[in-house]
Amino acid sequence: MSAPPPHRHIRRARETLGEAETVVVLTGAGVSADSGVPTFRGQGGLWREHRPEDLATPAAFARDPRLVWEWYGWRRELVSACAPNAAHLALARWQEGPRPIHIVTQNVDGLHRLARDRIRDGAGGSTTGEILELHGSLFRTRCTCCAAVENSRAPIDATSEASLPHCGACGALLRPDVVWFGEPLDAHVLDRAFRLAARAEVCLVVGTSAIVQPAAAVATEAARAGAALVEVNPEVTPLSRVARLSLRGRAAEIVPLLV
Ligand code: OAD
Repeated sequence: MSAPPPHRHIRRARETLGEAETVVVLTGAGVSADSGVPTFRGQGGLWREHRPEDLATPAAFARDPRLVWEWYGWRRELVSACAPNAAHLALARWQEGPRPIHIVTQNVDGLHRLARDRIRDGAGGSTTGEILELHGSLFRTRCTCCAAVENSRAPIDATSEASLPHCGACGALLRPDVVWFGEPLDAHVLDRAFRLAARAEVCLVVGTSAIVQPAAAVATEAARAGAALVEVNPEVTPLSRVARLSLRGRAAEIVPLLV
């Protein structure tokens, strides 16, 4: 385990973030690790013997939809039992402030939205900050035929192909409404993320290995347009080289100290 970042680094990061008029926060699986959601590439990243790259593909779904749904059913159950951690909650509180703080996440667990709902609960609240989910949501389905999208938290019965979720409108098989390897991201969401990145004075990057594109390019685009990058991650990533500050530590410990 890495030593906690020195206080002066935390102070510098706070100052950098505190002075910025607009901030984009790019998050990855690491921000949810402290909630108990396994990351993709670290310990616990494998489900049985399968790597995400082997299951999260259109080809895997075409070959064996039952197996792919079984994996997503397991992830839906796992994530349903998890709560936003101190990092999600600190970011949600920060978004309620006067400055536009935008969250662009690669995560499909919905924990940023849940944190925002928790913070607002009973307190009204309005914000100019957006939450953009680049890779979709575990808790939405999309019809493989008519493309109808629905929110769904129902348990998945993957005992047979017939028991998998089917479309109420046209009867075809439903799939998780997430982006798989080899598929394009939603063009509007991606375009919005890049626009926000290009305007940001600071880009805070939390808990991503920054190797999956185009998501990682949101941070590099922000840096290219002049934003200061502040990274929170226990490990070195390809963004560490370009970051003004890399804070080595867990999101739930570090992020609340910054915002
Ligand atoms: P990864 O699993 O690739 O990386 C997780 C990152 O989180 C690593 O850099 C870890 O060092 C870091 N990390 C671990 N624990 C942490 C903690 N407590 N606090 C902060 N950081 C921590 O996850 P992503 O970068 O999100 O895509 O992966 C990107 C995409 O690859 C995912 O959205 C998913 C995956 O395949 C699709 O499914 C399309």
